[in-house]
Amino acid sequence: MTATACQLSCVSCGDTPSSAGQDFRCAACGDLLEFKFVQWPQDSAALKHVWSQRRTLFKPLDESGVWRFRDMLPPVPEEHAITLREGNTPLYDLPRCARIAGVDALQAKHQGMNPTASFKDTGMTVAASAARAGGFRWVACASTGNTSASMAAYAARGDLHSLVLIPEGKISWGKLSQSLDYGALTCQLRTDFDGCVRILNQLVREKPVYLLNSVNPYRIEGQKTAAIELMEQMEWEPPDHIIVPGGNLGNSSAIGKALLEMLEMKLISRLPKLSIIQAEGANPFYRSVREFGGTRLEPMTADTMATAIRIGNPASWKKALRVLRATGGEVEQISELQIAEAKAEIGADGIGCEPASAVTLAGLKKLVRKGFVRKGESVVLILTGHLLKDPDFTIHFHRGDLFQGTPQAAQAPQISHLQRAPLVLDADLSAVVAALDSAERNS
Ligand code: F0G
Repeated sequence: MTATACQLSCVSCGDTPSSAGQDFRCAACGDLLEFKFVQWPQDSAALKHVWSQRRTLFKPLDESGVWRFRDMLPPVPEEHAITLREGNTPLYDLPRCARIAGVDALQAKHQGMNPTASFKDTGMTVAASAARAGGFRWVACASTGNTSASMAAYAARGDLHSLVLIPEGKISWGKLSQSLDYGALTCQLRTDFDGCVRILNQLVREKPVYLLNSVNPYRIEGQKTAAIELMEQMEWEPPDHIIVPGGNLGNSSAIGKALLEMLEMKLISRLPKLSIIQAEGANPFYRSVREFGGTRLEPMTADTMATAIRIGNPASWKKALRVLRATGGEVEQISELQIAEAKAEIGADGIGCEPASAVTLAGLKKLVRKGFVRKGESVVLILTGHLLKDPDFTIHFHRGDLFQGTPQAAQAPQISHLQRAPLVLDADLSAVVAALDSAERNS
């Protein structure tokens, strides 16, 4: 489907196997594999033109905001491509959030506007297509909910069977309901995300199932396109900063890889700083960088209400470290209260996102306070999931009981001004008018 030449390469020992094993790990040293491109299309202006031309066409692959950029993806035979017309996500201005954070120009690329409402679709379309091209019947993933929702949808579209391993009781109902409706065999395991990954890694050694977690390098390649599309939307003038949430660290790795490749191809002339934000209760990467200088990562038992990033042993930390260093970005951690506050602030800008995405705004505020992001610099937040992915969190926040019985309960009143609890009234006009008048007086 593309003329670009690429090969698999190990991130640690540099081995270049001709194909990957079931676990997508290097047979020589056990570390992760990635695609390296040995030859890029030469003419960057011509490439930009081809990409914008494809946007005007109605072939499924050209309508996809991922496959439109297939010249920067590993080849997959076109007849096996599974697409839900992913990508093509909006870049929004966030004027109120900009004022709150103390920067002049703040934008959000909303990856929650993908077909299954998270950024996972951009990688899944490529990796699920590779599974189909490889002749697999079953695909599988361990997930905090979004990967599984996405995988189940693409598997269903591609006539594949899907197996989902999720931590019991620790993912949102919205995400669980997606994988059920898309027909996955859904197993809620009595463990956390990291426990699900362990089981899955054992399973793929025993059964011919195709692994669709982000250790699969096709996922990373597809997820690169969010950054390519972002640069196109910014007319190839990069922002000063891009800020992403960090969980398993596939997304940060993918966006960083795209930035480095675009620089190499002269599609852009400078690199934005890519910063990665983690929740305090799920901060193994933050600790790796701050405490161990990135020399090692100590797995931890993770805990945060932002369940999408409740991950204690991130698979792609070495890839993420490399792009953090190469772009000069920062790593930050933020509290549960800061996540809830930032989520409500993004909502109040009319955009909305799930808790894990809101860590980006909370992190930005911290980076501004520390002077790492300056007022006049341009910033793009990557919002990874849609508001409706986790309505429970939002409802509990607005009703005021999100932090009940948690260590943050005493500080929760600090952000109560953002709460908009629903009013329960008699079916009576005067009651509604009184509510309206009161809201007007307080606005
Ligand atoms: N934001 C959302 C909404 C997510 O679902 C995830 C990861 C992340 C951020 C972090 O991205 O792992 O690439 O660093 N969700 C995975 C899942 C792990 O299973 O859905 P990452």
